[in-house]
Amino acid sequence: MKIRILSLIAGIGLLAGCSANSTHNADPVEEKINSMLSGMTLEEKIGQMQQVNDGFFGDDEATKQAIREGKVGSFLNMVDAKRVAEFQRVALEESKHGIPLLFGRDVIHGFRTIFPIPLGMASSWEPDLAEKAMRIAAVEASSMGINWTFAPMMDVTWDPRWGRIAESCGEDPLLAAEFAAAMVKGFQGDLSDPTAVAACAKHFVGYGMSEAGRDYNTTYIPEPLLRNVHLRPFKAAADAGVLTFMSAFNDLNGVPTSGNEFTLKQILRDEWDYKGMVVSDWGSIPEMINHGFAADTKQAAEIAAKAGVDMEMATTCYAENLKTLVEEGVITETQIDNYVGNILRVKQDMGLFEKPYDNHVSTDTILAPTHLEVSREVARKSMVLLKNKGNTLPISKSIRSLAVIGPLSDAGRDQLGTWIFDGQGEDSTTPKEAFEKILGSRMNYAEGLEYSRDKSTKGFAKAIAAAKRSDAIIFFAGEESILSGEANARGIIDLPGVQTELITELKKTGKPLILVVMAGRPLGIGAEMDMADAVLYAWHPGTMAGPAITDLVFGDYSPSGKLPVTFVKGAGQIPFYYYRKNTGRPATENDVTYIDDIPRNSKQLSLGFKSMHIDYGITPLLPFGFGLSYTEFEYNNLKLSAHEISADGTIFVSADIKNVGNYEAEEIVQLYIRDKVGSITRPIKELKGFKKINLKPGNEKTVNFELKAEDLQFFNGKEYVIEPGDFYIWIGPNSEEGLQDTFVLK
Ligand code: BGC
Repeated sequence: MKIRILSLIAGIGLLAGCSANSTHNADPVEEKINSMLSGMTLEEKIGQMQQVNDGFFGDDEATKQAIREGKVGSFLNMVDAKRVAEFQRVALEESKHGIPLLFGRDVIHGFRTIFPIPLGMASSWEPDLAEKAMRIAAVEASSMGINWTFAPMMDVTWDPRWGRIAESCGEDPLLAAEFAAAMVKGFQGDLSDPTAVAACAKHFVGYGMSEAGRDYNTTYIPEPLLRNVHLRPFKAAADAGVLTFMSAFNDLNGVPTSGNEFTLKQILRDEWDYKGMVVSDWGSIPEMINHGFAADTKQAAEIAAKAGVDMEMATTCYAENLKTLVEEGVITETQIDNYVGNILRVKQDMGLFEKPYDNHVSTDTILAPTHLEVSREVARKSMVLLKNKGNTLPISKSIRSLAVIGPLSDAGRDQLGTWIFDGQGEDSTTPKEAFEKILGSRMNYAEGLEYSRDKSTKGFAKAIAAAKRSDAIIFFAGEESILSGEANARGIIDLPGVQTELITELKKTGKPLILVVMAGRPLGIGAEMDMADAVLYAWHPGTMAGPAITDLVFGDYSPSGKLPVTFVKGAGQIPFYYYRKNTGRPATENDVTYIDDIPRNSKQLSLGFKSMHIDYGITPLLPFGFGLSYTEFEYNNLKLSAHEISADGTIFVSADIKNVGNYEAEEIVQLYIRDKVGSITRPIKELKGFKKINLKPGNEKTVNFELKAEDLQFFNGKEYVIEPGDFYIWIGPNSEEGLQDTFVLK
C-alpha cells in the first residue's frame, strides 16, 4: 500500500522570519504595499515591472528623468556607488511615490575577490564555506551600490558539454540544494544590514538539461524527474528565504519556462506559496517568439504575465504592451497589482525604503586580506586529487628544482573562471607567482603554450629543457575561462590545443609528472591521467589559485575535495550520472567485450545483449563523490539503529572512520540509499547525507546520520509517496564504494 504524503506541497517548511514566504493578512508591510498600489497609475505600476541595463535611457540626466517619471523598477549592471546613490536619491525623493530601485548584477562567485567557480565550491561539500564566501561577495558588491545579485544558479546538470556546468553545483539534487540554501543565506545575510544583497534562484527551471549541452536548447523533463531532481534546489532556496526567482530561457516540455504556468504558477506560487518576485532572464520574454510560442511581443507579454513573471529583464515587451492588454481586458489590473506587489515586497524586505541610500560600506573591504584568506581556503578545499601514484604528492619545499609549465600556470584572468564581471586578472596570485615565492631560483619556469587552445609547438623545446633540468614537473593544463560559461558549449570535452602533445613530450623525460587542471567543466582527461603520476583537479580556483595550490602541493594541507559530478571518459558517454536507473539489462564488468577484442568476422549477433558501450565499457572515468587524500581512511562498523523503519520513523546510521595514513586530513563521508522496488523505477543510488570530518593520523571518529522516512519520499508521476519496501544503504567515501546494509520501510 502506498502512503500518501500530505499533499503535493509536501516538505514546505517556512523559515521563521522569512518574509518572502510569510502570510500577509493584516500585515503592516502588506498594508503599506496596498496603499502604495492604490495611489499608483497603471503606467507607474508597469514601470515597476521594468528592469533595464545601465544606459538604457541615455545619459544620467535622461536616466534621472525616467526614474522621476516612474518608468523603471530596477537597473542591472550599474556598478558605481556614487551614481547608484544619486539614482536612489532621485527615486526616493523626486519620484512621485518614492519607491526605491533594485540594482542588480551577476555576482556569481565573488565580486572583486573571486572564489572558485560554483562547481569548484561544491567540490568542498561544505555549504557553510560557500555561505561565508557569498557573504564576502555581498559585502564587496554592496559597497558599490549593488543590492541584488542574480545568483545562486542551482540548475542540476548531467552534461559537461554545457558551458554553464561551471556555474552549477553539479549533478546531485541534495548537494545542489544544500549549496543553494547556503549561498542564499550568504548573499542576503541580515536583510536590515546595508551589506544585504537580495539573492535570485535561477534559472527556473530545467535549464541544465539543454539537449546536447547546447546552451538555450530545448529540454524535455518528465514530471517525476522535474520534481525529484530539478525542482529540489529551488525549493530549498525558497525555504531559505530567497527573495527573487529568475525564469529561464529553455523550452520545457513544449512550454518556454518564461511563460510556463505549470512551473511559475502551479508549483512556485500555489504549491510552494512563494511570495517573492520573479524576474525574467535577459530577453527571455520576446524569445518566446523564436521558440514559436508567441506571435509577437504583445502575445509574449501576455503569456509571461499570465504565467507570473513580475519583472522583465532588459527587453520591453511589458512596457510596450501591458497597458493595452489591461485595457483590452486580457490581463486584469488586479493581476498587475499582484505582480507589482511582489516587487514592492522585495524592496520592503530589503529595507530599501528606510535604508540611507548613500550608506554604502567602505570600499576598503574590496580585496581585504581576510577576504583573500577565505578565497584561498575555499580554493584549497575545492580541489580534488584524482590520482597520486606512489605518493608523488606532496612534494618537499626543499626540492632541488621544480619545472612549472603550462598555459594555466600564469594566467591571472583565466584562473578566475567564467562570470566574473568585476574580478580582475591583476588581483590574482598565479601558480607561477606562488611557486616562485617559495622556491625562488629553484623553479624552472617555461610556459610551453601561451593559452589553452594554442596549437603552436614553438614553446615545447624550452618547456622540455626546463623539465629536464628539474627533479619534477608540474604542468598547469585546462581551459581558459571563455571556454565555459553562458553560450560556451563544447562538443569535444578534451584538453584543447596541443596540451596533450606537450604532456606526452614531458612524460618522455621520465621525471615525475604532476598535472594540475584548471577548467570550468569535468574534462575528458583519461589519456592525460594515464600519463601523469599525480593529478589535481583545481577547477577555476579564483583569485588565490596560486597559494591554494602550493598549500596542497607542498603538503601544508591534504586535498579534501570530492567530485560533485561524474567524470566521463569522453563526450560519447554523456549523460552518465551516478543516480541513473538500472535498466532491464544491467551489465557487470565481466559482460563487457571491448571493441578491440571482438574477433574479425565474429558470427555473434550481439556481445551479450547488455546495456554497455563496447568502447567505454560500463564505468565512468571517475565516479561522483570521488576524491583522494594524502592519507587513507578506513570505513568500519556500519550500524543501523533498526532494520525496520515506520512511515513516520527515523533510523540512525553510523560508521567508524579511521585515518590509517600519515597525514592529518579531512574526509567527506557520504550516505547513499537505493529503493529496491518502486511504483516507478528508482535510481541505483541516491545521496541522502554527507559529513565532513577532520582526523589526525591514527584517530577514529564515529560519523552519525539521521535518515527519516520522509527522506525516502519521491514523486511517482501522480503524487509524492513514501513506499514500503526494501532498501539498500551505504556509508562510503564515494558513490561506488562503501559499507552496505539493508533496511525495510514498513
Ligand atoms: C543569464 C543570466 C544572467 C543575466 C543577466 C543572462 O544571459 O542567463 O544568468 O543573470 O544574463 O546578466
